[in-house]
Amino acid sequence: MNFTHEKPFIAGNWKMFKTVPEAVEMVQKLHEASLGLEKAQFVVVPPFTALYEVSRALQGSPVQVGAQNMYWEEQGAFTGEVSAPMLKDIGCIYVVIGHSERRQYFGETNETVNNKIKAALNHGLVPIMCIGESLEERENGNTITKVQSQIIEGLKGLEAEKVRQIIIAYEPIWAIGTGLTATPDQAQEVHRFIRSNLAEKHGNDVASCAIILYGGSVKPENSYSLLKEKDINGALVGGASLKAESFAEIAKKAIKAYEEK
Ligand code: 13P
Repeated sequence: MNFTHEKPFIAGNWKMFKTVPEAVEMVQKLHEASLGLEKAQFVVVPPFTALYEVSRALQGSPVQVGAQNMYWEEQGAFTGEVSAPMLKDIGCIYVVIGHSERRQYFGETNETVNNKIKAALNHGLVPIMCIGESLEERENGNTITKVQSQIIEGLKGLEAEKVRQIIIAYEPIWAIGTGLTATPDQAQEVHRFIRSNLAEKHGNDVASCAIILYGGSVKPENSYSLLKEKDINGALVGGASLKAESFAEIAKKAIKAYEEK
């Protein structure tokens, strides 16, 4: 297993930001910061173009690397796509699947998410499956129904032993890049539901050790109160992960929250 429930899991999704030199500079700083913050698990998720160099720069570092997407076939005539074995080949451990931006702009569905999760697991990558509701769905009282269908369809056909190897990230769409964060209570309510759904479908054992991340405008100012919540095990950070200082600060607050839980 590449991850543990014992530490807060802090992943930085860089989205479509950073050239290769910028990425390498950032992870060198982050590596140094991480050495004083061993009680957190750091993961960086750069764009494809920087993955190889970032992975090389982090060899021997506790900071791990993930990709932002992948295709489910191993190889073939799929112009523009990247496969799980290719990601493994360059040192990726994780892969983000079904981010709301991919669902919104690139036509991803629960079915494609399910295909990708299965392929990632078959090739030894840890999927970080993203789920979350839109503002309209929240206002109409459909948050739980939405999240439930994303979990059930995204994890369709997977045995408990496979589900155990997946990380789930709850990212309410209305909180992404908007500066609006779900309150700790709002986030905890959905995280609790996710864990209870995992327990019901895949057993208590899977549910109790599942890592469930929160994402959506996580910053140093709110990471402590979010991570204090019982069912929040870490954060998937966008904007605030682009600078080593703010990313490390988020981890510092998360460690404090975890120690006090
Ligand atoms: P922000 O932290 O910029 O809101 O992005 C969250 C996100 O989408 C992480 O995957």
